[in-house]
Amino acid sequence: MALLAVENLVKDFGGLRANDDISFTLEKGELLGLIGPNGAGKTTLFNCIAGKHPVTAGRIVFDDEDITALKAPEVARRGLARTFQVYAAAGDLTVRENVMVGCFMRTASRRKARERADAILEDLNLTAAAPQYVSELPVAAQKQVTMATALGTRPKLLLLDEVAAGLNPGEIEEIMASIRHIHHDLGVTVILIEHVMELVMRTSDRVIVIDSGRKIAEGLPDEVARDPQVIKAYLGDRYVQEAGGGEAHP
Ligand SMILES: Nc1ncnc2c1ncn2[C@@H]1O[C@H](COP(=O)(O)OP(=O)(O)O)[C@@H](O)[C@H]1O
Ligand SMILES: [Mg+2]
Repeated sequence: MALLAVENLVKDFGGLRANDDISFTLEKGELLGLIGPNGAGKTTLFNCIAGKHPVTAGRIVFDDEDITALKAPEVARRGLARTFQVYAAAGDLTVRENVMVGCFMRTASRRKARERADAILEDLNLTAAAPQYVSELPVAAQKQVTMATALGTRPKLLLLDEVAAGLNPGEIEEIMASIRHIHHDLGVTVILIEHVMELVMRTSDRVIVIDSGRKIAEGLPDEVARDPQVIKAYLGDRYVQEAGGGEAHP
């Protein structure tokens, strides 16, 4: 039984079809990469899965339950957490308080929330930042805090929307190490939207490509990188350059 099944999902915004008949399944323990050009509909797909947007058509099944009509807080309570592409931690709270907000979904006890938050921060090497205000931190650390807050909700599935965007190469390595830790050691299933193609290809068990709202490819990272339709739609010269040349050519 798949952890997540998206069946024929359609999402319209007025006359714009942002997600067009998208279907895929995700097994427990997988790390799935979701890629596609800007405006392809990746964030919209996350918003539909996470209950932020009502879907136009189709069905979403999570952990054996139809969650299609559920609202975001109800979806989160079932163990589906997400981070936002646009940075969403509260800058006027400390790092510890931010993570406690996530923990309060599972406990009403302030003491328990604090203990759990501190354990998560230690696990992600963020203990030193715990008393700092989020707004005072570098962007890379802020992104780590959004992941820590999501972990506070004890997710089975974590949706990460471009957490490496805008970071320098060293920071990207750190955040990818955290993602691998969350996936591999904490056993959280992950869907990763990432603009830095090489990261997705290197980290994902499987990759789905969407373009203009449609799923155009799905497979192992190597297979997808060689798919002519994918190269045409998205990867093109940019991936060839980023990968040091040749990689995307058959
Ligand atoms: N809340 C919204 N209202 C109207 N149009 C939207 C909304 N969110 C996204 N869109 C449109 O849907 C399309 C897909 O956007 P998005 O899912 O953000 O793409 P991606 O994350 O792949 O860059 C774009 O044309 C975008 O302008
Ligand atoms: Mg997006």
